[in-house]
Amino acid sequence: MVTISELGKHVGEDVKISGWLHNSRSSGKLVFLVIRDGTGFCQCVAFQGNLSPEQFKLAGDLTQETSFFVVGTVKENPKQKGIFEIDVKQIEKYGDSVDFPISPKEHGVGFLMSNRHLWLRSQKQWATLRIRARIVKSIRDFLDSEGFINVDAPCITPSSCEGTTTLFELDYFGKPAFLSQSGQLYNEAAAAAFGKVYCLGPVFRAEKSKTRRHLIEFWQVEPEAAFVLHEENMKIQERLVERIVKDALHDCETELKVLERDTTVLQHVVTPFPRITYTEAVKICQQEGSSIEWGGDFGAPDESIVSSKFDRPVMIEKYPAQVKAFYMKQDPEDPRVVLCDDMIAPEDVGEIIGGSQREDNLDILLKKITDHNLPREMFDWYLDLRKYGTFPHSGFGLGIERATSWIAGSQHIREASPFPRLLDHNYP
Ligand code: 4AD
Ligand code: MG
Repeated sequence: MVTISELGKHVGEDVKISGWLHNSRSSGKLVFLVIRDGTGFCQCVAFQGNLSPEQFKLAGDLTQETSFFVVGTVKENPKQKGIFEIDVKQIEKYGDSVDFPISPKEHGVGFLMSNRHLWLRSQKQWATLRIRARIVKSIRDFLDSEGFINVDAPCITPSSCEGTTTLFELDYFGKPAFLSQSGQLYNEAAAAAFGKVYCLGPVFRAEKSKTRRHLIEFWQVEPEAAFVLHEENMKIQERLVERIVKDALHDCETELKVLERDTTVLQHVVTPFPRITYTEAVKICQQEGSSIEWGGDFGAPDESIVSSKFDRPVMIEKYPAQVKAFYMKQDPEDPRVVLCDDMIAPEDVGEIIGGSQREDNLDILLKKITDHNLPREMFDWYLDLRKYGTFPHSGFGLGIERATSWIAGSQHIREASPFPRLLDHNYP
């Protein structure tokens, strides 16, 4: 069996393609059927003169999302190079599809979300999720090529990593446990065993706000490297993002076209990325009328102001300790701030990466755990990493769906997840 993506290798030959009917139209002696098989979309031309009356009627009667196969000759569209058609010689049905709920007309978001299992078949969803898959592959290729080893973290944890307000609590055989917000703390243990590591998997945040950037369950890649300091940590981040964008532009041309994505901004994504300090970013926001004061965290409108000043992702570094997680390393040159950075994507997507050098001083870390009101005993194992050969190290987390929705140009992050979990939605 041949797939639609392979048709270019079979011009002039007879092939069999199995798939589902995307749409169709008839004109007299011709029926045009657009079949999709998961690898792509292709027009099949059923000409009355080439088919028995039963077969021609079958072609004309197929309804949206009927599964079927065609056997026919592959032709290249003379007007569009790289676009192939099939001259149908035989057609058979696998399964009917009566009144498919998602028709080409407009549907409300709630309806589409409740039918996500079927909505996935739509061309734009197909394109977005193929870009997501390409991003994940780029990430693995990049990290493997830079000597990182994949060591995955658990999804069930006894403690929080990113603050206690977004924790999902579980009943773990009578004891409390939580769905993981981040694999980072485990990565730090793994970095002491393997040097450069990364985990890639789902994380969970009970975010009470409904925004177009937040999911309740999302995927993160989290690299962590021993003996890498803040500066080098940012360099790895920009190289990774440059690679992801470059690969998507190169390998997802069809998908970006389906999405009608204007790729001008993506073409600019080359290193080095601009860097500014938190303090500079606050000034930029204030000049544009934001009420943010030094010491406060940026809201989405502040991030928009900052990102609008640059033509590529911008890295904001050295935030005040009080707005960031307990594990970030104090800046030896200014103890009010930590050696961290957030990467803000252009085009109003917001933060795609959060990273930092980690606090490797046992006493400072102990104080931070107390200051953040975290249960000390749950972090005993983490503190061991500072007791037995503490080491300078850094890492970061890139949100897979944030990156996907940026590159695909999605209106809402839900489109970048196959089965998104949102505040008001967890079906199907
Ligand atoms: O900035 P965050 O919270 O960082 C961490 O979790 C660190 N422990 C990572 C590390 O250093 N190993 O999250 C990292 C990224 C964000 O920049 C964003 O891209 C994404 O995860 N993210 C979300 N994506 C979708 N929905 C949400 N609710 C998200 N929260 C964070
Ligand atoms: Mg963050």
